[in-house]
Amino acid sequence: MANTQVSASGVKRIGVLTGGGDCPGLNAVIRAVTKDAIYNGIEVMGIEDGFLGLIEDRIRPLTIDDVSNILGVGGTILGSSNKANPQAYPVGKNADGSIKFKDLTDVCMTHLNLHGIEALIVIGGDGTMSAAKPFADRGINCIGVPKTIDNDLWGSDITFGFQTAVAVATEALDRVHTTAASHHRVMVVEVMGRNAGWLALHAGVASGADVILLPEIPFDLDIVADYCIKRSQRGKRFTIICASEGASLKGGKQIVEKIDPTSPDPIRLGGIGKWLANELEDKTEIESRYVVLGHVQRGGTPVPGDRVLATLFGDHAMRMLHLGKRNRLVVMQNGQLADVEITSAADKQRLVTRNDPLIEAARSVYTCFGD
Ligand code: F6P
Repeated sequence: MANTQVSASGVKRIGVLTGGGDCPGLNAVIRAVTKDAIYNGIEVMGIEDGFLGLIEDRIRPLTIDDVSNILGVGGTILGSSNKANPQAYPVGKNADGSIKFKDLTDVCMTHLNLHGIEALIVIGGDGTMSAAKPFADRGINCIGVPKTIDNDLWGSDITFGFQTAVAVATEALDRVHTTAASHHRVMVVEVMGRNAGWLALHAGVASGADVILLPEIPFDLDIVADYCIKRSQRGKRFTIICASEGASLKGGKQIVEKIDPTSPDPIRLGGIGKWLANELEDKTEIESRYVVLGHVQRGGTPVPGDRVLATLFGDHAMRMLHLGKRNRLVVMQNGQLADVEITSAADKQRLVTRNDPLIEAARSVYTCFGD
């Protein structure tokens, strides 16, 4: 809604923050929101490091110059934190060694009032949206812009960051192909995604991975091993496996790399790639290696599709604000921008279903899902 000059909302100053893990496209949203706001007569305050900046009063004005040339820059110029939920902020330890949490909502409200911030544009995952709720309840209009490379936002066809992560993972899978073929190895590439297999599914299909392992389809190790052996017998003396970090054995558990008790989302998955490569080498006697892509998938410049999507999401957020809509979350539904209540996606995940067309397409070209 650029170029309308004066916002019908009557809002004079907004705050913008990015919370949770970084994601390609965050800066494109900050740019879209800030430029739209300023061109509509609204001042913008950038809150540093997500809600942590609100707790610590690290809040600064954003100008057009601040958001110039950031469209294609990864990360977030505002910084982020995935541990700063104002309602349950870790402030030390209890006598029993457990983490002591304190509600700092009032402190944040004082800082919002001090800076005259009437509305917040919160860019983040479902944790960030839940953290925004108490401010919405206290009269601050909170407009949410969702982000996640996992693409698991409930109620949205797609989120920005996903296409970049798929591109990075696809390139990595393409690249290990040559080593796998030259050395006649099984190569396991572990990709992110938490409990959702979207990233593994899309990168796996895009790269023609032979085996794709998803959290939604627990796998049988013997089936995967047998598949690798049969490929060798057919003269294909290598196998590329794209394994989601959340994939697990039938009847087994996900492999947890670490637990961070100070984080609202404490479980960090990881380790399936190493475990699988070792098990397959034992079972098949084919040399096996693994690669963990980790944060490489979230880093660097966003692909054009994510820049476009992030710009659309930022623009829609401002449209909500100008229209006076309150406490909404931007989503994409059936290819159309839409908005839902800000916490409506909290504690829910959009997971891959077994009858997803992409799974059916992959099965048609004899991709193994280990089931
Ligand atoms: O949700 C995005 C994501 O990158 C997941 O795919 C991954 O499991 C997790 O975040 C990693 O979190 P952190 O950056 O805290 O290690």
